[in-house]
Amino acid sequence: MSSDALSNLLHEERRFPPSDEFAAEAVATSELYDAAAEDRLGFWEDQARALHWETDWEQALDWQPPFAKWFVGGKLNVAVNCVDRHVDAGNGDRVALHWQGDPVDDKRTITYRDLQKLVNQTANALTELGVEAGDPVAVYMPMIPETIATLLACARIGAPHTVVFAGFSADALASRIRDADARVVVTADGQYRRGEAAPLKPNVDDAVAKCPDVRNVLVVRRTGSDVTWNEDRDLWWHEVVDRQPEEHEAQAFDSEHPLFILYTSGTTAKPKGILHTTGGYLTQVAYTHRNVFDLKPESDVYWCAADVGWVTGHSYIVYGPLANGATSVMYEGVPHPGDKDRWWKLIAEHKVSILYTAPTTIRTYMKWGPEPLQEHDLSSLRVLGSVGEPINPEAWMWYREHVGGDKTPIVDTWWQTETGAIMISPLPGVTATKPGSAMRPLPGISAEVVDEEGKPVPNGGGGYLVLTEPWPSMLRGIWGDDERYKETYWSRFEDMYFAGDGAKKDEDGDLWLLGRVDDVMNVSGHRISTTEVESALVSHPKVAEAAVVGANDPTTGQGIVAFVILRGSAAEGETLVKDLRDHVAKEIGPIAKPRQILVVAELPKTRSGKIMRRLLRDVAEHREVGDVTTLADPTVMNLIGEGLDKSKGDEG
Ligand code: PRX
Repeated sequence: MSSDALSNLLHEERRFPPSDEFAAEAVATSELYDAAAEDRLGFWEDQARALHWETDWEQALDWQPPFAKWFVGGKLNVAVNCVDRHVDAGNGDRVALHWQGDPVDDKRTITYRDLQKLVNQTANALTELGVEAGDPVAVYMPMIPETIATLLACARIGAPHTVVFAGFSADALASRIRDADARVVVTADGQYRRGEAAPLKPNVDDAVAKCPDVRNVLVVRRTGSDVTWNEDRDLWWHEVVDRQPEEHEAQAFDSEHPLFILYTSGTTAKPKGILHTTGGYLTQVAYTHRNVFDLKPESDVYWCAADVGWVTGHSYIVYGPLANGATSVMYEGVPHPGDKDRWWKLIAEHKVSILYTAPTTIRTYMKWGPEPLQEHDLSSLRVLGSVGEPINPEAWMWYREHVGGDKTPIVDTWWQTETGAIMISPLPGVTATKPGSAMRPLPGISAEVVDEEGKPVPNGGGGYLVLTEPWPSMLRGIWGDDERYKETYWSRFEDMYFAGDGAKKDEDGDLWLLGRVDDVMNVSGHRISTTEVESALVSHPKVAEAAVVGANDPTTGQGIVAFVILRGSAAEGETLVKDLRDHVAKEIGPIAKPRQILVVAELPKTRSGKIMRRLLRDVAEHREVGDVTTLADPTVMNLIGEGLDKSKGDEG
């Protein structure tokens, strides 16, 4: 168990009652629990009715474990739900996006009417490029309004998008384009990060060189940097999209039509393409966004500070807020030490009332001290959300005190790329919160903590988090790999979804998430597989073998620590560690760069040859090494300890 998890347990007794500010809706919101308990499927049908359906469904759920179909026979268009119906309802002048670029003077205000025009033109452009319903489109873009328009345009024409985070390498992009079989890629010349322009198009050029089936690359001009151009393939957005008609006739798609594929790390080196579909997904993201954040679309200004490249961006920057007609802030940049008060200025400027971010960001600001916040008026904030990793009670308290003025409820939301939407979270005004606990499954969601045998643990016990009933926004599978879908999520326990997370039920039955129980690391809220980093390392000519672990890190949650054995003829050399870190960045992306690389002579293995990561984690976290009796050669750990002493100062 991590030290954060331990400290969580010590803080269990602290509790914050629901705030009176939410009293007006508290009764209605708490009734959701009763309604869902009484008739779960009827409850979800009620939530689905909040959307606009062209054709009603005939059946709420068709469950052939582990394959689900929700709102069977229903037809709807996601883009119509996220844009057109708000315009039709007379809210065309409402701001959809207050966009702020990384350069201070780059700002745009986009109303729902503006967004409608942009989405329609983009849909027409994609159609002109030959994209039809069912054709996957790859998206490798910065945090700009065109990215949202691209996603909605794909949804509008029924083309599933596969967004690849713009921090991933060309190789990672290429493997995703190939796996999804995308023939069109949408990108930009570059993006701004930490005050500087960073190129994107060259990565796409390198990736597409390995993807012969890609016929077009559509490029937004963002930074104006020089790009190499392939006349047969590349098209400028402003030349193709801007000249399109502003009208587009939308067609309704089946509730189970694929909406997107999003790749996430699993326990093997190959990322999994998580498939989400239309009706159930949109129902649950809209429902959770409305209730978990107590959204008032007419008055709230909502800011989810994630990137569209991750599931949080898909569900809570794009689909949830827009389905609800919310006004959002969209920010291109990321927090950095050179500009510590940018975030808080943005909150004060737009009077942001709901903020949704990750614990790693909160811990970064904790490290920098509260002064930058104190210079700005943050009193507009009324709900604070946390996502992506366990939030330690210290960060939770700091968030509440310094960001939330000691009054704002915090919703710690547990979910995953696979779940599509929030599953476990307090509800503001209804749930008494405990710093560090995600509390209870939402109305309509059934979760349990079970032991090795799959039996529910009693209050006070710990085990594995499982979901015991299908839910509307659940993944429908792994793209092209039903066997892996069954094996990964449905084989560990019978008829239960295995989330891969450890959890504890406290004496009141409230849930505490304790981090991954598999070989997946969580670095700054991003999922990275140990095996993926290991295979990147062994693809370097000097590396014979590698083992990677996630070690506790006070800011990023976990940090990547790698142990490598060099090939016989390779010498250690001064730049080796840097070369290896750069190599991993090239293979996967900078987020996967190990914090520390140790060159060792041996790795601890069991007699059957399995690497004992537990022992390596002890070394990486500077702890006394645990039980070594199952090692084939117990003396190996002494050698590794010596390697550790030698490598001090290598931490990147
Ligand atoms: O380990 C859990 C952690 O993040 C994993 C899911 O990662 P990803 O699919 O990238 O989605 C992140 C954004 C939803 C989970 O298996 N996780 C996510 N939220 C929490 C969390 N761990 C503890 N508390 C949370 N609130």
